[in-house]
Amino acid sequence: MREPSLRLQSEIEYISRRIEEELLSFFHRLPNDDLTNIIRYHMGWLNKNFIPEDSYKGKRLRPVLCGLICKITGGDLEESYPAGIALELTHNFSLVHDDIQDKDKLRRGRETVWSIWGTAQGINVGDAMISLAHKAILDSGLDYYKKCRLIDILDTAIFRLCQGQFMDVSFEEKQDVDIEEYILMIQGKTCSMFEASVEMGLVLSEKEELIEKFVLIARNLGIGFQILDDILGLWGNPKVTGKPIGSDLRQNKKTYPIILGLKERLDIKDIVLNKDKTEKEIEYITQLFEKLGIKETCKDRVNLYLSKAREIINSLPLDKDNLELLLELTYYLESREK
Ligand code: IPE
Ligand code: IPE
Ligand code: MG
Ligand code: MG
Repeated sequence: MREPSLRLQSEIEYISRRIEEELLSFFHRLPNDDLTNIIRYHMGWLNKNFIPEDSYKGKRLRPVLCGLICKITGGDLEESYPAGIALELTHNFSLVHDDIQDKDKLRRGRETVWSIWGTAQGINVGDAMISLAHKAILDSGLDYYKKCRLIDILDTAIFRLCQGQFMDVSFEEKQDVDIEEYILMIQGKTCSMFEASVEMGLVLSEKEELIEKFVLIARNLGIGFQILDDILGLWGNPKVTGKPIGSDLRQNKKTYPIILGLKERLDIKDIVLNKDKTEKEIEYITQLFEKLGIKETCKDRVNLYLSKAREIINSLPLDKDNLELLLELTYYLESREK
């Protein structure tokens, strides 16, 4: 794994720490009821008996992206935290609902909300998180224009995220999904939040003229990020990712490697598409795909999309240090193992 430079590392650590403080202070003002405590459980602050615990909280990537872009385009990093809270809560709402939709029992190495409290309460918890994301922006001291812009960006992203998740679930019933359809699906489920993060950063720094280029960068980052997530879902180390392995095959998902594998080996189509695959069959398919070179092809595609992002980054009107920081961020994302 390519280690990020000290500067990138310290930027990521600083923003993550400040977002954590701001999230905690936001939640400090909320009720102590079971609904809110389940959110606190999911966010990694409480255990399932609602006793304080400090567990892994995810990469906090979307607030980092928003804060970093706000800062390097001349904005005030401190002003970005309400947007960061909204982005992180929305992302986490999507994870709570996604685990219900994907029937996954493990996330960040812990039991998922629905697997403890049931799907009905999981839906309530996710819904509550969306409302809190809006509250974080509306309760902030930002001016009226910025609040409206941020809410508009947030809601557009949530709609696109739902469109993407809808396609992702529909694909479980589809035999032939091509890469073009897959790209459209992940532009909804994954890129929407990356794009919203950079857009919010630029609204806050009042550099909206840069939105078009940055959105294109975020889209390419998001596509690369999701293909890598698909790779980790088949070949990652579950102890590191904190997510179950093979879940995409079990659930008949059409991820990038699965689509490529199906195209390559029509003879195993029946096994791959069978809804009741045994654990042995899942292992067989995973190993076969790797032997066929699919994992490597997928890694090349991740590199292709991140290289496209780098190309656009190089054309941004920013000083050399800040360009370098953004480029490093792409390498850091490309080499992630969780
Ligand atoms: C997981 O996102 C869902 C995808 C879009 C692939 P992250 O990998 O950013 O999740 P956390 O927040 O770090 O756990
Ligand atoms: C990622 O979905 C996108 C959202 C959660 C909206 P996935 O189902 O591919 O992600 P993981 O692997 O469960 O995190
Ligand atoms: Mg999932
Ligand atoms: Mg999913």
